[in-house]
Amino acid sequence: MDAIECIKKRMSIRAFKPEKVSKDLLMEVVNIAKWSPSYKNSQPWEIIILSGAKKEALSKMMVELLTKGVEPTPDLPEPQFWPPAEEARINHLYKTKAEAAGIDLKDPEVVRKSKKVNFNFYYAPHAIYLFQDSSLSLWSLFDIGLFAQSLMLAAHAKGLGTVPQAFSTDYAKQIKNFLSIPETKRLVIGLSIGYPDLGSPINKFRTDRVETDKLVSWLE
Ligand SMILES: Cc1cc2nc3c(=O)[nH]c(=O)nc-3n(C[C@H](O)[C@H](O)[C@H](O)COP(=O)(O)O)c2cc1C
Repeated sequence: MDAIECIKKRMSIRAFKPEKVSKDLLMEVVNIAKWSPSYKNSQPWEIIILSGAKKEALSKMMVELLTKGVEPTPDLPEPQFWPPAEEARINHLYKTKAEAAGIDLKDPEVVRKSKKVNFNFYYAPHAIYLFQDSSLSLWSLFDIGLFAQSLMLAAHAKGLGTVPQAFSTDYAKQIKNFLSIPETKRLVIGLSIGYPDLGSPINKFRTDRVETDKLVSWLE
């Protein structure tokens, strides 16, 4: 697949076919993504791929924590404030989603339900967690973001769908305990991965982007 087409056609996939992806293909996607650049080639990413009973048990644990009202304590805290430009873009997303799908993302009950689906990784057959040592600097967070994008693009090029999910890190401490990951690791992001169900209405919604001339300043 052409790189430009891959970047422009990738989108967050939130409904998946039940069939599993082969271990070989999942490894190939990681094998491609590892060619991402990083500060001094430090490659500050560690990857866990979950499937089957282990994935189900983790989802169950997270849903139980939510149901019990346990306060989320992600390693990267949820933003409490957005500057005006970014806030306007988020409001635009909420508005277009409400118009297209009748979903009000500001409604706490909708958010709660959405968290449950997120904790189930949108019923994808596999979940991926990316983490790194928590002593690493912000540059390494930048690097693992590049890795995540490469992973999503490689998956897309191979006919797979993904969605990155901050929500899936809500219970970082409990997740690390469940996965036997040392507490000293920073749980950065979780992703669902599988074959996309392109017939599902949720996968018909496409986000838009700010016009390029509003992003760029030319100084000559
Ligand atoms: C860091 C990050 C966290 C995200 N967290 C979630 C999440 O918890 N749940 C979810 O459904 N989508 C999540 N998304 C997906 C975004 O909503 C999505 O990327 C954005 O709306 C643009 O849409 P697109 O990916 O289809 O281009 C996240 C994306 C990023 C980059």
